[in-house]
Amino acid sequence: MFYETQVNDHGLEHDPFKALVAPRPIGWVSTASDKNEVNLAPYSFFNAVSDSPPMVMISSNQRKDTLANIENTKEFVCSLATYHLRDEMNMSSATVSNGVSEFDLSKLKSAQSRLVAPPRVADSPAALECKLWKVIPIPKGPDDDNASHHSMILGFVVGVFIDDKYLSGGLFDTAKAGLIARMGYMDYCQVTPETTFSLNRPVVSEDGRDASLKPGPWDGKYR
Ligand SMILES: Cc1cc2nc3c(=O)[nH]c(=O)nc-3n(C[C@H](O)[C@H](O)[C@H](O)COP(=O)(O)O)c2cc1C
Repeated sequence: MFYETQVNDHGLEHDPFKALVAPRPIGWVSTASDKNEVNLAPYSFFNAVSDSPPMVMISSNQRKDTLANIENTKEFVCSLATYHLRDEMNMSSATVSNGVSEFDLSKLKSAQSRLVAPPRVADSPAALECKLWKVIPIPKGPDDDNASHHSMILGFVVGVFIDDKYLSGGLFDTAKAGLIARMGYMDYCQVTPETTFSLNRPVVSEDGRDASLKPGPWDGKYR
């Protein structure tokens, strides 16, 4: 099958787009309002966009508290969502009234961040403390500069919390942390030891005209 997104003529009951760009990591985003009310919500239009400087993006599909708070205070924290915390993560997506803390709603403990005001999710294995770079309004399409309802938030990661128990041999153990990610529809997946594998980057020959694959495990080299 093939469909044009501007016509959306896929003929399926549900739009398949989000099931195709999957899995997407979940940024569990905490922010604070200018009255210092703490807000928490999961965002799966979330990813790293560079590692030097470390930078992440979140995309909001309409004006939401997270976007408003980030625009006001220029700060946010992305805690990582895990299988163990899946129900709390889900609960924190509920559209509750302004001023209701999703930490309380989801019965989650918060922990103070070091470099920014919003707290992190205390039981999350890692959290990224971020400062806003830019909010980019997303236009309607390639030939339509009018703003859609979506905005992309780009932020510098200024501090990283890692729970030491997920560090082994100097590496962050993503599988042990049990990170979850969003697929299409209401589906999720979990990173487990069984579903994790390593690939060494191809080794390029001296004359630069050929390359070979080096079987795993990872030899510790970035090529
Ligand atoms: C796993 C998951 C991922 C989500 N990803 C997004 C997203 O990327 N963008 C978005 O606008 N809403 C997303 N949502 C919905 C928001 O979490 C929800 O609208 C929430 O109430 C927003 O809270 P806020 O108004 O406090 O920012 C997601 C919900 C879940 C459960």
